[in-house]
Amino acid sequence: MSFVSKLFRRAATKYVGIDFGSYELKAVQFAPSTRGPVLEHVYRVSTPANSIKDGVVTDPQQVGEALRSLIADGAFTARRTVTAVSGPTVVVRQVTMPVMSERELRESTKYEAERFLPYAVEEAQIDAKILGKTEDGQNMDVLIVAAQKDLVTSQMSALQFGGLTPAVVEVEPFSMVRAMIAPDERQFEQNIAIINVGAASTSINITKGGFVPFTRNVPIGGNAITKAIANGLNVSLDDAEKMKREKAKILSQQDTGPVPPTVTRIFNVITPPLTELVTEIHKSLDYFRTRFRGETIEGVILGGGSSRLENLDAFLSHELGLPVVVANPLERGVYDPADFPADFIRDAGPSMIVAAGLARRDVENQSRSGAAA
Ligand SMILES: Nc1ncnc2c1ncn2[C@@H]1O[C@H](COP(=O)(O)OP(=O)(O)OP(=O)(O)O)[C@@H](O)[C@H]1O
Ligand SMILES: [Mg+2]
Repeated sequence: MSFVSKLFRRAATKYVGIDFGSYELKAVQFAPSTRGPVLEHVYRVSTPANSIKDGVVTDPQQVGEALRSLIADGAFTARRTVTAVSGPTVVVRQVTMPVMSERELRESTKYEAERFLPYAVEEAQIDAKILGKTEDGQNMDVLIVAAQKDLVTSQMSALQFGGLTPAVVEVEPFSMVRAMIAPDERQFEQNIAIINVGAASTSINITKGGFVPFTRNVPIGGNAITKAIANGLNVSLDDAEKMKREKAKILSQQDTGPVPPTVTRIFNVITPPLTELVTEIHKSLDYFRTRFRGETIEGVILGGGSSRLENLDAFLSHELGLPVVVANPLERGVYDPADFPADFIRDAGPSMIVAAGLARRDVENQSRSGAAA
């Protein structure tokens, strides 16, 4: 299975986009229509404990069973899937190589990838795509995408246990771009940071013009925040999770009113992991600005379940000196509010940033070409 393999194109074939999160398995299904993508199904189930680690499905059978419930309980009609691999072993690089044929490229890619892969090339699943010739006509820009084979094979195995058929596997950063930025939008031509704050990790990506010149994964996310509450307030992880959702708030100088003591205590204990996260984001944005001199980052799109931590958007905006918006990828489709009430869309939206992007793959083209269901 190739990351960039073409979908078997048949008008109005439906796919379910599935995000293998370590906290929740999430699925979205869009259908093409002349009015644009129509949101048909959204659902999520808890990921069985310790069954996904660093992007690898360590227990495919258990995850397969959870996928069965996800598809059945969410009443999904599609069985062909679009999924993404993510984690520290996923590498996306744009390189310049001499002009050559696709066949020659496949051979050379291995040697090229060897230079930057942090693991043996034999362990990697590698894909390359020619983006176009450089201005001098002698060279070409090539997108190389690689991931450890385990990531792909373990996911395939879980899908099989779940009774699903994999159609496409891509890499997570591209799904998020597709979920949030369309080619006819102003942001498409700007450098935008898309930050997905999940449970085990956070991915920091910078995109412009549909490309993703920078992507990085750091092992800090909602789990670190929950743990800090559990340790700091001496409560169980379950209680800490509940407190995080109901009481945690990032305080700022602007909070002049009275603050309940528990809120202040939670704020104090979650400050260290949040500071660590901001430091990593800062480092990433600074690296990008140094590597691509003259490029400025115009804004941040914040996704992932942890983006719902109260005031995380305002806090990051203040720390980074950039406008920050919380992603709502589900709003970027046509839907019936009777099926999807506003509070559902708002609550579930941010964590669906990957699944929604996966589900949109090919749907937009079909919508535009009128190959609607
Ligand atoms: N209202 C909320 N406030 C704060 N945190 C929340 C809220 N809702 C969910 N979270 C946190 O979001 C995290 C889950 O996010 P998400 O679904 O994006 O993770 P995931 O994709 O399963 O994990 P990963 O990508 O790290 O493998 C959990 O840590 C959860 O505690
Ligand atoms: Mg995730």
